[in-house]
Amino acid sequence: MSKFPHLQSLKFVQLFFGFTSLQASLLDPNSSNSSATCNEIERKALLRFKAGLKDHSGRLSSWFGKDCCTWSGVGCNKLTGHVTKLDLKNPYDHPYQQSASVVVAFELARLGGKINPSLLVLRHLNYLDLSLNNFQNTPIPKFIGSLSKLSYLNLSSASFVGLVPHQLGNLSNLKCLDLYSKPLKDSQNIWVSDLSWIIGFSSLKSCICLSVLSPSALLSSICELRFHSRPRSSRELLQFFTASMTLDLSSNEMSGELDKFVSSLSKCGNISLEMLHLWSNNLSGQLPIPLGHFKNLKSLRLLDNPISSSIPAFIGNLSCMEELYINNGKLNGAIPESIGQLKYLVEIYLEGNWNGVISEAHFLHLKNLKTLYLLSRNKSLKFDVRRDWVPPFSLELIFINYCEIGPNFPTWVKTQRKLRFLSLEEVEISDRIPDWFWEQTLQLRNLRLHNNKVRGRLPKSLKFAPGAFTVDLSSNLFEGPLPLCSSIRILSLRNNSFSGLIPENIGQKMWMVEYLDLSKNFLSGTIPSSIGKFKKLQVMYLSNNLFSEKIPWWKHLTTFRVLDFSKNNLSGNISSSICSQPRLHILKLSGNNLSGKLTALQNCSGLSELGLGNNQFYGRIPKWIGARLSSLSILSLRGNLFNGNIPQNLCHLFDLHILELRHNNLSRQIPPCLGNLSRLSYLVPYSPQALGYHPVYWNEMEFNVKGRILEFSLILDLVNIIDLSKNNLQGEIPREITNFSTLGTLNLSWNQLTGNIPEKIGNMQCLETLDLSCNYLFGPIFSSMLDITSLNHLNLSYNDLSGSIPSTNQFQTFNDPSIYEGNPKLCGYPLPIICSTPKNDQPKSQKDESKAKDMAEVLWFYFYLGMAPGFFLGFWAVLFFFHY
Ligand SMILES: *[C@@H]1O[C@H](CO)[C@@H](O)[C@H](O)[C@H]1NC(C)=O
Ligand SMILES: *[C@@H]1O[C@H](CO)[C@@H](O)[C@H](O)[C@H]1NC(C)=O
Ligand SMILES: *[C@@H]1O[C@H](CO)[C@@H](O)[C@H](O)[C@H]1NC(C)=O
Ligand SMILES: *[C@@H]1O[C@H](CO)[C@@H](O)[C@H](O)[C@H]1NC(C)=O
Ligand SMILES: *[C@@H]1O[C@H](CO)[C@@H](O)[C@H](O)[C@H]1NC(C)=O
Ligand SMILES: *[C@@H]1O[C@H](CO)[C@@H](O)[C@H](O)[C@H]1NC(C)=O
Ligand SMILES: *[C@@H]1O[C@H](CO)[C@@H](O)[C@H](O)[C@H]1NC(C)=O
Ligand SMILES: *[C@@H]1O[C@H](CO)[C@@H](O)[C@H](O)[C@H]1NC(C)=O
Ligand SMILES: *[C@@H]1O[C@H](CO)[C@@H](O)[C@H](O)[C@H]1NC(C)=O
Ligand SMILES: *[C@@H]1O[C@H](CO)[C@@H](O)[C@H](O)[C@H]1NC(C)=O
Repeated sequence: MSKFPHLQSLKFVQLFFGFTSLQASLLDPNSSNSSATCNEIERKALLRFKAGLKDHSGRLSSWFGKDCCTWSGVGCNKLTGHVTKLDLKNPYDHPYQQSASVVVAFELARLGGKINPSLLVLRHLNYLDLSLNNFQNTPIPKFIGSLSKLSYLNLSSASFVGLVPHQLGNLSNLKCLDLYSKPLKDSQNIWVSDLSWIIGFSSLKSCICLSVLSPSALLSSICELRFHSRPRSSRELLQFFTASMTLDLSSNEMSGELDKFVSSLSKCGNISLEMLHLWSNNLSGQLPIPLGHFKNLKSLRLLDNPISSSIPAFIGNLSCMEELYINNGKLNGAIPESIGQLKYLVEIYLEGNWNGVISEAHFLHLKNLKTLYLLSRNKSLKFDVRRDWVPPFSLELIFINYCEIGPNFPTWVKTQRKLRFLSLEEVEISDRIPDWFWEQTLQLRNLRLHNNKVRGRLPKSLKFAPGAFTVDLSSNLFEGPLPLCSSIRILSLRNNSFSGLIPENIGQKMWMVEYLDLSKNFLSGTIPSSIGKFKKLQVMYLSNNLFSEKIPWWKHLTTFRVLDFSKNNLSGNISSSICSQPRLHILKLSGNNLSGKLTALQNCSGLSELGLGNNQFYGRIPKWIGARLSSLSILSLRGNLFNGNIPQNLCHLFDLHILELRHNNLSRQIPPCLGNLSRLSYLVPYSPQALGYHPVYWNEMEFNVKGRILEFSLILDLVNIIDLSKNNLQGEIPREITNFSTLGTLNLSWNQLTGNIPEKIGNMQCLETLDLSCNYLFGPIFSSMLDITSLNHLNLSYNDLSGSIPSTNQFQTFNDPSIYEGNPKLCGYPLPIICSTPKNDQPKSQKDESKAKDMAEVLWFYFYLGMAPGFFLGFWAVLFFFHY
């Protein structure tokens, strides 16, 4: 069955509690007390490398301080101190294996982002392992070929794609090269155009895992030719497959008209094509393609091509068809009934802007159908079958999203006794779930009903297949007490109307759960201490409920990564036992009645997001935050009772991009070194994967921007805020703050700041909200502010500013005089005071303005994206969960 039998023998070691043990074993126990310490140049190179990476689980949280040889995953030569080893493989096993390892942990622990060429500084590196990370379908960097000392290179299953750079052939010391990637069905992969460079290796004998394209793999699967470079002519193809039956030209950057390509194929001889896979190319044009020639076609996959027009009716004549995969944003129209004639069809995957009706006729003869994946992006496809319809098929996977199935729960599901995956998201069901349904969930492994209006109570306990993966009933109208479901790993009941207490025995009953989201309900009482019995819980959202009294801080849980208890009525202190959870990454407790000092958090070195806003915490903002919580990217302490100054050490937080200290009693100066917060001066590159649906990670937070509270979720990474308003800060606004070229919101209002607005304020090109009101600022509104064309929320009221208000660019739209009021020396529109001296602000050139506008628009796109409800679960993700 497997195309790569030699891989079956690989041992996959289970490393579930891997983090601590692995980190320990990676460190050479002798290195820390050896005389040589880390080389400073190499240390800096490592920090640059780290800065490029995305590290959701804080695996690199030990990467600070002077001695880089003690950092986890880094190994040094004991005598010279040079870095010789970087072992950054994901400590978790690949979850596609049959073993019960944990996808949640695996996904979170995958490093991503960019591999900084600063690695080249590590001239003595001989061991590099980046396996099982997620470099998001980028190519293998060519410069790896210049790490000439490498003897071990493992890039396996790290989501690299594309041509393996022949530069790797330069690694003359290489003894072991592993580029293996287990494809997720036929997902993208890495490939080589020519194997001659491998043959050139002199030392590469003992191990090589180039599975996908090793010559023997090629030869052993003669019917499964993959062409990994564009075929120069159809003639050339024929050499290959007069007798062959399958053609897979996926991911080949082929451009051109689809129909021309197919007709030239049909002219090239007497071939009996059974499989035609052309997905991920750039083939355009219309769908009626001359496929009639290929009567034996069993599998047609055209995913991810810019094809337009609808599916032709003659598709029903391709009577051997077993798999039909078509998706495209441009595909539209109705789905032809003739599909119902394809009696051998096993899998159907259709995604587009479908409209019209799906009727029983569409399934007339589909008695072999196992997988039905139907997604209508614009929600115009209506599912219209009789209530007593008995379909000819018995499906294992139903994925029908964004269509209209409701208002009733589809009764035909009752006949589907082998169902393992059921997803009916946003299909307008407003019914109760019938009782029979809960009697046939015993083999179900995935249930998703997100965003309908399903009503009613759930049975006290839900029973699914052992080791079931996801149950997502979020955003419905379920009510009554919380159900218990043993055997589930991901449970989301978010945004419903569940009420009452959490059952005291939840920890015993649901010990397998890894991800638990009960937020946005009406649950009350105390948080049960049996949560300490969850053996695998990593992510827990209990926010926006009515929980009260103290949090039972659990001692022995080492698995927590994300805890969100915000917006409840919890009281008491934070216990330092929370930091015995080395992987704690996100802690959100805002909007409760918690109090105390922050001392308890001293050892939470893995924290990346800390939200303690709107509580009664007090004391000084501790100096150790900058050193001990060095991975913080979000720090929100708004609405507490902190006093004293803003400690300089905060300036060491390299990753900080949201700093909210609003509404405390902070005094003295704003430390100028804040300008060093480097994350606020570069734009995080847009990456759809980074923004897209993450199976386990639903992160959201509220911030005050644009003068109101907005909730951000998926794009949190891209939101940059500094809010120090409503304190007693004194002195001038540090000039260094204008370094923040990507800051979106700056709020310094309601303080006692004096001096001028920094003249170079125009450097903050991405600023959208600027609030400096209610301070003692004086001097002019510099015309450099005209450069901030993205600015759409400005408040300068109640200062002592003077001179004329700029009148061009975005300032023309600021026509509300209240944003300037309380500055008696200001003049010009929209104030009623006319300036006596001529204005000297020059309109900006049109070009600059449009450039900045573009930037602003891009940013806005991010904002809206983040606020859009729901998320899209892609096909490969579905397959992933299904096969799990
Ligand atoms: C560490 O040092 C001890 C004693 O010097 C030695 O026995 C041991 O092999 C060393 N371990 C490693 C991993 O180098
Ligand atoms: C180095 O220090 C560690 C503890 O810090 C100790 O376990 C180890 O034995 C020491 N190694 C040598 C060679 O002294
Ligand atoms: C490469 O890394 C993978 C995953 O960590 C591991 O299973 C495999 O054995 C490694 N390959 C070699 C040749 O060491
Ligand atoms: C690497 O190999 C290429 C040929 O594949 C050669 O042109 C180049 O000079 C080599 N670079 C180094 C640094 O050896
Ligand atoms: C895709 O094809 C169109 C023409 O069919 C061409 O204009 C465009 O540049 C191609 N895109 C890529 C990425 O090759
Ligand atoms: C095509 O091949 C089939 C059998 O493989 C043969 O029966 C048929 O005659 C061939 N047709 C042509 C036009 O060569
Ligand atoms: C399907 O095939 C039948 C019989 O060969 C033919 O009559 C019909 O026109 C074909 N339908 C389409 C839509 O091509
Ligand atoms: C959805 O797309 C179809 C086909 O393009 C179009 O006819 C229909 O009006 C669209 N519906 C909506 C709600 O946009
Ligand atoms: C909560 O669920 C309701 C009912 O499905 C839905 O209309 C609403 O948009 C959801 N709210 C959020 C914030 O997801
Ligand atoms: C919050 O909890 C306190 C006791 O801890 C209680 O007195 C108060 O009524 C609660 N408030 C609400 C709104 O439930």
